[in-house]
Amino acid sequence: MKFVNSIPALLALPILAAAQSVCTTGSLQCCEQVGNVSNSIIHNVLTLILGPTLPTITGLVGVECTAITGVGASASLCAETPVCCTNTTFPNDIIALGCSPVSVD
Ligand SMILES: *[C@@H]1O[C@H](CO)[C@@H](O)[C@H](O)[C@H]1NC(C)=O
Ligand SMILES: *[C@@H]1O[C@H](CO)[C@@H](O)[C@H](O)[C@H]1NC(C)=O
Repeated sequence: MKFVNSIPALLALPILAAAQSVCTTGSLQCCEQVGNVSNSIIHNVLTLILGPTLPTITGLVGVECTAITGVGASASLCAETPVCCTNTTFPNDIIALGCSPVSVD
């Protein structure tokens, strides 16, 4: 009776969905490091990627980010720092710009 056994699991899904931390702007990312350009690690990575003359970058920057997507995506799945970022156009998500913190439920 596999079908009957799966019904409790289906009923549990909306409860999990309600507990998610999601982004209102940008996409949910899980980053090794998060900081602004004043952070020396962030500054060094930005300089490596964008060159010595950095454009004006405001707000938080994520380094080595992995997108958290799909069913059940939640900031609580991130063992590092979860953020919402608007600019993730860089190869391999090495940096993400326009990030803002996400609360983990
Ligand atoms: C960077 O973050 C630090 C610590 O939160 C803050 O004091 C500083 O003003 C920020 N700098 C910029 C350029 O946003
Ligand atoms: C992302 O940021 C880079 C560097 O500032 C910029 O060249 C690019 O146009 C931005 N992309 C988007 C979609 O905002």
